Amino acid sequence: MAESKQNRIVGVSVPRKEGAAKVTGRARYVDDIALPEMWHGITVRSSIARGRILAVRFGDGVRWDEFVIVTAKDIPGRNCVPLFLEDQPLLADGVVNHPEEPVLLLAHPQRELLHKAAGAVQIEYEPLPAVFTIAESERMAPVIWGEDNTFKTFLMEKGDVDSVWKDADHIVEGEYETGAQEQLYIEPNGMIAQASPQEGVTVWGSLQCPFYVHRALKVYFDLPDEKVRVVQTETGGAFGGKEDYPSIIAGHAALLSWKCGHPVKMIYDRLEDMAATTKRHPSRTRHRTAVSKEGKLLGAEIEFVTDGGAYATLSSTVLSRGTIHAAGPYNWPHLRVRSRSLATNTPPSGAFRGFGAPQSLFAMERHMDRIARVVGLAPEELRRRNFLRQGEATATGQLLRDPIDLDKMLTRALEVSGYHEKKARFARENAVSAVKRGMGLASFMHGSGFTGSGERYLDSMVGVEGTVEGRARVLVSSSEFGQGTNTVLCQIAAEALGCEYDDVEIAQPDTSMVPNSGPTVASRTAMIVGKLVESAALGLRQTLLQAGLLQEADAPDAFRAACHGYMQQFGPLKSYSRYEAPLGVFWDDEKYQGDAYPAYAWAVYVAEVAVDTMTYATEVTNFYALQEVGKVLHPVLAAGQIEGGVAQGIGYALYEKVVWSNGRMANNQMTNYIMPTSADLPPVHVYFEEIPFAYGAYGAKGIGELPMDGPAPAILNAIEDATGIAFNRAPLMPEDVLEQMMRMAKGTAQEPQPAEVTR
Ligand code: MOS
Repeated sequence: MAESKQNRIVGVSVPRKEGAAKVTGRARYVDDIALPEMWHGITVRSSIARGRILAVRFGDGVRWDEFVIVTAKDIPGRNCVPLFLEDQPLLADGVVNHPEEPVLLLAHPQRELLHKAAGAVQIEYEPLPAVFTIAESERMAPVIWGEDNTFKTFLMEKGDVDSVWKDADHIVEGEYETGAQEQLYIEPNGMIAQASPQEGVTVWGSLQCPFYVHRALKVYFDLPDEKVRVVQTETGGAFGGKEDYPSIIAGHAALLSWKCGHPVKMIYDRLEDMAATTKRHPSRTRHRTAVSKEGKLLGAEIEFVTDGGAYATLSSTVLSRGTIHAAGPYNWPHLRVRSRSLATNTPPSGAFRGFGAPQSLFAMERHMDRIARVVGLAPEELRRRNFLRQGEATATGQLLRDPIDLDKMLTRALEVSGYHEKKARFARENAVSAVKRGMGLASFMHGSGFTGSGERYLDSMVGVEGTVEGRARVLVSSSEFGQGTNTVLCQIAAEALGCEYDDVEIAQPDTSMVPNSGPTVASRTAMIVGKLVESAALGLRQTLLQAGLLQEADAPDAFRAACHGYMQQFGPLKSYSRYEAPLGVFWDDEKYQGDAYPAYAWAVYVAEVAVDTMTYATEVTNFYALQEVGKVLHPVLAAGQIEGGVAQGIGYALYEKVVWSNGRMANNQMTNYIMPTSADLPPVHVYFEEIPFAYGAYGAKGIGELPMDGPAPAILNAIEDATGIAFNRAPLMPEDVLEQMMRMAKGTAQEPQPAEVTR
């Protein structure tokens, strides 16, 4: 087996496959592409949060006869975006449920005429009452969705939590909130469609999941599989923001093309992309924890609530991951987690790196520091006394069979960050300085791959084929959007084939050419798709060995001739591999019990902050990220994943605040929704522990989402260490710090703190 040999390519930082094309400008993004006779499209959107559409008028000053106009009536198939619940229309039909909801579409040969035309469409509404926050939605008036505004609930229980309260030395309560966050990929959403009743529908665009878009187009146009084709063009970032939304813009471009008879391009500008597309779910988490005086966690009740926006989209699965991660990497004898996702009249919330876990882990890790204070232990010591260990069971009762040593990781993280020395020094210096410095940490985990039975349902398939030039080509629908899919999957294939890395290429994700290897989400690509690539490549190598064209001992450069020779003699050379669930893996979807994920990645992050009590600005001055992600397949890309995730986490904690105005993002531009730039970022020190995971490609586990989970709580924990103030909402802006310090200076109350009952 490949594992027993020294790896040649896996674990080495080879050049990225699409790197040269990107840095030389040869890479073609969707807006770089023009088809002959192509028209351009634009979306006319609702200006109100909720209401009935009474009339649509086309105003003066526009040559309307030159435009093609599409409404819900023009949809040949079903007017619904197919996800879990089929509640979201592709185009509003009589009612709107959130600001910026698509109402109608316009196309014209000249792109520059579209904005004026869209502005000349007047929509008359009868407004209806709307709700904009979790609290308003909970009050259930008005009910905008289902019977009680609830898209989904989960109940996850372990042991008997009702039995723990009477014997607890301490009962600690806390409430924590997180805001929305915009994905802010560099390239906004965009799509080109060519569609006609005769030819079917083809789209090219910026997206994560070609087969999600494929399924959606079949529904809108009532077409069979073979009449729909989806091609991913070079994609400039995604972060979950191109998991579900591309199914909408693809449908819109295709409807316009279908009606006007030309290819149609739709590209969102930044304003439209920020205002209209999905964001991270805002959340509220309440904790009630029973603890012994020695700092043993006895039991907890956790209530986790997310704001799903106006339609269900992916809220149920985001909630599921948030629920499973809500109890952190700790051993809970007794636990009850109740969660729900609520409807509000805002644009639907969606996937964003971490997918529910950053929200619930923010609460857990802030709450751990609160518990530590109540019990009188150092934050690191409380965690150390409660870490999950090998052989113990997670919140879902998943037995941890693989080696895991969070204790050791914590020790190393404290060491490399100089935690104890700095904490003591900062405490001394803070007494005489207007800049207060502090250290904070978070320990956490992230499940790799789809939750529960998800991977089984996906039924992923990959292929590896020989090309006439004697190269190998990886066939997957998994997409590159900056994170390194192309490179890592080619490394795995080259390692397994025993050929040179340069002799492997990867097919462009095109639903007419590649098998469905599942969506590029959920930190699953390297681990799960990679494992399938490994096994397909081993199969192809076996074919060459059996044909006598390749010998076991051959040098890597023998592959070309063998591959070429095989195809000359026998024709096409292809090998496929399909997902099979490992034996002994069990998941109960009703009780939310069992093996929630094939594997978890584990981490301990340490933040070092400086809070300026004159300007109220917080700066992260150093960040230490230590994680165990199985085998690191490509050290440079892996470190890049961590650095990028930490940067987004710092934005989530301190910079990125969505300002809502009647359900609409009011600051939908990068000049007043501020993301950290490289000038704002601290040195990010990245450390890996490598414990190879038997079921991942060459020992890999998931890495993509993990680094999003830890920074926000580590930073707010460090701010509490620096200032003595417990802030429990992210993002934490300078004005929030100012307000709290003013209150404290006046002697009026702390930030309202939930009860801490000590008995
Ligand atoms: Mo992701 S947030 O699983 O695309």
